[in-house]
Amino acid sequence: MKIPTKGRTAEDVLADLRARQAGDTDWRHGRVFSLVYHAGAEHEQLVKAAHAEYASANLLNPMAFKSLKQLEKELVAMAGSLMHGAGVVGTVTSGGTESILCAVAAYRDRARAWWPELVVPRTIHPAFDKAAHYFGVRLKKVDVRDDLRVDPRAMAKAISRRTIGLVASAPQYPHGVVDPIEEIGALAQKKGLPLHVDACVGGFVLPWLEKLGRRVPVWDFRVPGVTSISADLHKFGYAGKGASLLLWRSLADLKHQIFVATDFPGGIYASPTMLGTRPGGPIAAAWAALQAQGEDGYLALARQAADASDALRTGIRALGLRVLPSDSTIVSYTGRDLFAIADRLEARGWSVDRMHRPEAIHLTVTANHAAIVDEYLADLRAALAEVRADPTLAKQGTAPMYGMAAKLPIIVARRLVGANVRKLIAEMYAP
Ligand SMILES: Cc1ncc(COP(=O)(O)O)c(C=O)c1O
Repeated sequence: MKIPTKGRTAEDVLADLRARQAGDTDWRHGRVFSLVYHAGAEHEQLVKAAHAEYASANLLNPMAFKSLKQLEKELVAMAGSLMHGAGVVGTVTSGGTESILCAVAAYRDRARAWWPELVVPRTIHPAFDKAAHYFGVRLKKVDVRDDLRVDPRAMAKAISRRTIGLVASAPQYPHGVVDPIEEIGALAQKKGLPLHVDACVGGFVLPWLEKLGRRVPVWDFRVPGVTSISADLHKFGYAGKGASLLLWRSLADLKHQIFVATDFPGGIYASPTMLGTRPGGPIAAAWAALQAQGEDGYLALARQAADASDALRTGIRALGLRVLPSDSTIVSYTGRDLFAIADRLEARGWSVDRMHRPEAIHLTVTANHAAIVDEYLADLRAALAEVRADPTLAKQGTAPMYGMAAKLPIIVARRLVGANVRKLIAEMYAP
């Protein structure tokens, strides 16, 4: 394929783009979980319009785009106050993974250790594995307790002279539980270590759930040992894609995040994040989302998500499946022949997130799922009945793959190791 010899009209190009989306997953109607956070058509239009306003703006040079720098500052200040920090500083990044990459690089640089190690729960998001891989940091993974939260005593035992920091999640992605951050914070202070809280998925929903009177363990800057927090605007902030925050308790902490190259003939180059050019669209869209929803809007969205997750848990339990613990609106459940059940749900038009260790189905429940609870439970009942009625189905099932949407039969996946998966995924990029 080549760039067209003669340019096409804007209408033609846009019509083409719209037509191409026909085969994509239908995320607006609640049949997809975790990939998109949708707060209704009106909100979607606003996010798009705000994004368009700043589509060409570049925060690589904050002096040239002063208004964009101000939007970033205000996003950090609003999030800092939501998460009970005074004088919190930070940067917008392109997503949770970039916030985590920046945090790990900064922790490494502040420690200046020869063999840097981070002590993390086994349930930590793979963005930390990626960061560790990129930046030469070793992750010491600590087991979780029966309640799926990390054991702070096991974390204490894993600390050594090589430890450069601790990490915990609020909540962790797989089951939605919040690690015991108050205890881990106390441990961090006792050992003189920084603590990063990964609130990528929880940062913009746990505060609202707490305000609604639900039991949420304290996880934010109220915990004295917390040094930094990653919180995604493009998840429960219902912003457009490409926006997260990396927040630091103080400027002395943030300092290690800044990269500087002084000998470039093009001028002294300083950059706080992984990206060089920093797109303005996602920042403006995120700012617009917070302004347009306001506290009342987010409280209503959180209430809808919480009620929907409660109703799903009740319905799933009633079908004889086991619901795993959660402190958030993430619902996960397990049971016999689960991946075969997942396949039957997919045949009914649901996009199903599968997990392993233990095998479970995962639902990131947002406000947009309030409308599908009954339909989901009815389809789950039917899927379950089909699998129970046909023993050949129970032997099948598609493997749990997170991230890249590749599909593998479970029989094949169990025999694969990382290198094979790498080759398989690389093939997706073949011309
Ligand atoms: C707890 C947690 N951390 C980090 C991430 C990574 O975020 P992103 O996919 O935006 O890079 C996720 C994504 O789901 C998450 O749930």
